[in-house]
Amino acid sequence: MNIGIIIHSQSGHTAAMAKAIAEQFRQHGHDVDIKLLLTSGLAKPGSRNFTISNTPDDEELARFNVILFGGPVWGFKASPVIREYLAWLKKLNGKKVMSFVTMGLPWKSFGGINAIRAMNEELKASGGTVLPGEILQYFFGFNKQKLQKALERIYTNVTG
Ligand SMILES: Cc1cc2nc3c(=O)[nH]c(=O)nc-3n(C[C@H](O)[C@H](O)[C@H](O)COP(=O)(O)O)c2cc1C
Repeated sequence: MNIGIIIHSQSGHTAAMAKAIAEQFRQHGHDVDIKLLLTSGLAKPGSRNFTISNTPDDEELARFNVILFGGPVWGFKASPVIREYLAWLKKLNGKKVMSFVTMGLPWKSFGGINAIRAMNEELKASGGTVLPGEILQYFFGFNKQKLQKALERIYTNVTG
């Protein structure tokens, strides 16, 4: 399978999760491309004063069989960067898609669940077949067992 992972990551945690996901799929012989959304301007909670400077568009995404979208939780929501990108995407046309977020707090209800719900609504509105999302806490690193479990769930959901 050809798998795309599109992420926003400011301090690298979501990027680290994306790399671990990519490694898991590559070990099983799949091709994986990670694309990091870059911004100019000020991206912060509640702000729209930024521009995404490298938006992978619908055509660029068309070559992927499955696409995962990831970002951090900011102010109890998905980061405005990943939300703006997902709102801008239009044609997922039944493609399998999945959201994942990393967060600092240990309780998923402190932004993680909200973030996945909002991301999934955008993905559904663009016509994607939405797979269950993943929420992972990063606190001086990922909990290795929780990361492993998340990777296994992601693999099963994508390939199942
Ligand atoms: C501006 C800002 C707001 C944040 N708000 C939350 C929050 O509401 N809930 C939470 O659990 N973590 C929050 N965090 C922590 C991040 O979600 C966490 O560190 C995440 O893993 C960062 O991902 P990144 O390194 O990919 O940017 C916040 C971090 C920043 C910088």
